[in-house]
Amino acid sequence: MKGSAIIFGASGGLGAALADATEARGHGPVFRFSRSAGDFDLSDEASIARCATRAAEAGPPTLVLIATGLLSHGGRRPERAIRELTPDWLAENFAINSIGPALILKHMAPLLPRQGRSTVAALSARVGSISDNRLGGWHSYRASKAALNMIVKGAALEFARTHPDTVCVTLHPGTVATRLSAPFRPNTADGVQSPLDAAAALLDVLDGLTPAQSGRCFAWDGTEIPA
Ligand SMILES: NC(=O)c1ccc[n+]([C@@H]2O[C@H](COP(=O)([O-])OP(=O)(O)OC[C@H]3O[C@@H](n4cnc5c(N)ncnc54)[C@H](OP(=O)(O)O)[C@@H]3O)[C@@H](O)[C@H]2O)c1
Repeated sequence: MKGSAIIFGASGGLGAALADATEARGHGPVFRFSRSAGDFDLSDEASIARCATRAAEAGPPTLVLIATGLLSHGGRRPERAIRELTPDWLAENFAINSIGPALILKHMAPLLPRQGRSTVAALSARVGSISDNRLGGWHSYRASKAALNMIVKGAALEFARTHPDTVCVTLHPGTVATRLSAPFRPNTADGVQSPLDAAAALLDVLDGLTPAQSGRCFAWDGTEIPA
């Protein structure tokens, strides 16, 4: 049975599409939390705890999606080379792409149903795969997504003991036409998905996963991305 769904980052291109697609698939109620709406900030744990308290009123959620993320911000872009790396940009990437989602997992864990299927997924990126890194560059973003993948892996191992029916994974959405990817997309539309198409594909992937596949990273087309 589908219970409530909680979407963090529901103001984003993918977050909004995921929230709409989740609603259309019969989840309810759907909690749409976002910084823009004043609901929470990833760098403020108390605000994440408040989201958990609000969502708990609807009972155990059967879907939690973390659709937040940072790639460039305030004129700062991913590094092309290691000599461009700065401590504060590295720290900001970790704060938003790794630590914030980790705190969301911390505050969502007590809400999840102990029995019966539930799904927890965080949007990561293929470039967070260590074994897939053949180009270098984008050091802060890559490292923060690799850290996110590790946090989710650790949470999944815990859930296997405490919540055996829970699926907990990271997802690579592909290249999707959103604010985040706009400065980096190819000039042609080739290989670029709309947020709605990507959201539908990601929800289909999640529907097809079993708890035995928890802790891993999957792309929008269902293929597994190696760590
Ligand atoms: N688009 C792609 O091609 C692509 C490819 C690979 C991976 N991804 C991943 O997919 C995820 C979603 O990206 P998107 O393309 O949908 O980007 P987006 O449209 O820029 O959305 C990013 C979301 O993150 C939120 N956010 C950023 N900083 C925050 C903070 N401090 N506190 C709370 N929320 C914060 C934004 O909130 P505000 O609206 O308040 O700014 C927004 O809701 C990201 O993790 C990204 O790395 C995207």
